[in-house]
Amino acid sequence: MRRGYVVTLPLGAGEILYGLGLQLMSLMQRGTKKTLRVNADPRHDAGDSHAPVPFYVSTQGYGVLVDTARYITFYMGGRTRRGESAGKLSVETTSTPAAQNLPQAYFRRRFGESSEVIIDVPHASGLDIYVFAGPSMREAVQRYNLFSGGGCLPSLAGLGMLYHTDSSFNQDQVLAIAADIRASGIPCDSIGLEPGWQSHGYSCSFTWSDKFPDPEQMAAKLSVNGMELNAWEHSFTHPSSPIHKVLEPYSAEFEVWNGLVPDFALAEARKIYNDFHAKEHAARGIRGYKLDECDNSDYTGGWSFPECSEFPSGMDGEQAHCLYGVLYQSTIEDMFVQQNIRTYSLARSSGALAAPYPFVLYSDLYDHRVFIRGVVNAGFSGLLWTPEVRDAASEEDLLRRIQSMIFSPFVLVNAWYIKHPPWKQVRTEENNAGRFAAGWRETARKCRELFELRMRFIPYIYSAFFRYRETGLPPFRGLVMDWPEDPQCWSIDDQWMMGDSILVAPVVAGQNKRKVYLPSGVWYDFWTGEKRTGHQWVAVDVPLERVPVFVKDGTLLPLAQATLHTGDPQARDIEVSVYGDGSQGAMLIEDDGKTCNVFKGEYNRVTLRYDPVRRIGLVNRSGTSKVQGYNIRDWREIGSR
Ligand code: GAL
Repeated sequence: MRRGYVVTLPLGAGEILYGLGLQLMSLMQRGTKKTLRVNADPRHDAGDSHAPVPFYVSTQGYGVLVDTARYITFYMGGRTRRGESAGKLSVETTSTPAAQNLPQAYFRRRFGESSEVIIDVPHASGLDIYVFAGPSMREAVQRYNLFSGGGCLPSLAGLGMLYHTDSSFNQDQVLAIAADIRASGIPCDSIGLEPGWQSHGYSCSFTWSDKFPDPEQMAAKLSVNGMELNAWEHSFTHPSSPIHKVLEPYSAEFEVWNGLVPDFALAEARKIYNDFHAKEHAARGIRGYKLDECDNSDYTGGWSFPECSEFPSGMDGEQAHCLYGVLYQSTIEDMFVQQNIRTYSLARSSGALAAPYPFVLYSDLYDHRVFIRGVVNAGFSGLLWTPEVRDAASEEDLLRRIQSMIFSPFVLVNAWYIKHPPWKQVRTEENNAGRFAAGWRETARKCRELFELRMRFIPYIYSAFFRYRETGLPPFRGLVMDWPEDPQCWSIDDQWMMGDSILVAPVVAGQNKRKVYLPSGVWYDFWTGEKRTGHQWVAVDVPLERVPVFVKDGTLLPLAQATLHTGDPQARDIEVSVYGDGSQGAMLIEDDGKTCNVFKGEYNRVTLRYDPVRRIGLVNRSGTSKVQGYNIRDWREIGSR
């Protein structure tokens, strides 16, 4: 009897492979076996992921998408068929000068031999395979993202800090913590509500609990302070929910936590869900969600629906698991778009072709090193990832985590189980007892400076997202995507590019020095302006206040004034740092930052150039938007030319 589908694709000697979605445990996929299954607790490097994506790219400059909603196993080269070993040259014995520079894994996994990718889909009666041409890996990824519909454009406020509050809080406590954050001077754009905001949380009623007697008033008060609302939920619908009865015919065979599982592949389910969300949430000020538990559970009690279950749309549970994260995102996104609201939300699961959805992945895994790799890996497959911050093992750990996060797609302080901000006390028990750390004011000051730095970079990050939308170029990506021909970049999973000009090399607690790889070209230390020659590893001192950040030669870096929130008009005051001759120029996008009008063309493109001889900056604005534009106040030459 036939066992599903098997596809083999050739793999050249020396090709390195990346992708397969949010593979948190490894970067280079060549030589591995990965069974892509959606999972909430992906602790092993076997393919389980919050967001597995059957798409991989090669340093040879192409990408492959296997368009299936089935569990699928990739053997990414390194298998030998009977008779193949005889007479094969072993790469281990090759000692060419170039080979000296190659990462060890290159030899261990026999990357130097031609091989094949074997794609095994045990339950399928057919498959579509798309091959995306390059010529470079970066372009193959761009084509994949454009094929998906182009990258998402977050709301401007979404790029600021989101602080998720303690799950037990009531309306007054939420407002009090928002006021406390404002008083501390720490920039914050959104306040998040955890399960306790609903009359029933696991599963969800989607209805405000008595603890929130006047959500409109709460939203209005937050809004006066320039803060939006984000709400936690999952889709499992509790019997007490007003939509439970009407949803029933459009939900799956099994419940989860005594709640219905809506079948988001059905227009009826989406409409019921969305009408209610629009009325109860969006109309009351909610601008984003944290969509929880849309992944699956194998190692955490098995709480989700079975693979063998049926959905009224015709999907079975396996297919539904593969698609659930993306279907849920698209349902919520539709709701916002119908209200002409642009969101930037969170989701715990995603999948293939997800680039257009303005959702960022998060996880309960809390390993900083793993979180750093997540930023790099997400970029190969049209995904975004946040290395969120909750509590921490120490002040040092907290600051190091925040440093990674401010240079990532999403700044989430997920204080869902601590009553006070982590900068007052990192230890959970003490925090909840209101016992603050002795030097907490100093810690808060350091954290504030980091969040302020994020605010300064937002116009730059926003432009990088705009390019993501237009060209598919991931705003956050591993170095190998820009320098695939440089073997040093192949295995670097703890540095990334933010936009085209900024190289970030995060630090974890315990490190006081780190090696940073600077690819070919000239780079400037963001903190000191010191010029460094690339194509080499440099040892960098990493005092607690600093995370290594390097700027590419020729960059014009527009930095905003640090404000308390993105809506402050002063957030549009820009100072441009000129690195070297500034010949790379820069682009800024002006629009309202919060509606979908930008997609109808309501925006301005502001082009920045620099004349290094006359030492003047040139600003050119084109477009139809009437919003208050950027005010380019100053141009500052950095380092020697
Ligand atoms: C988890 C989620 C956390 C938090 C918690 C609340 O599943 O990952 O971020 O929201 O639920 O119960």
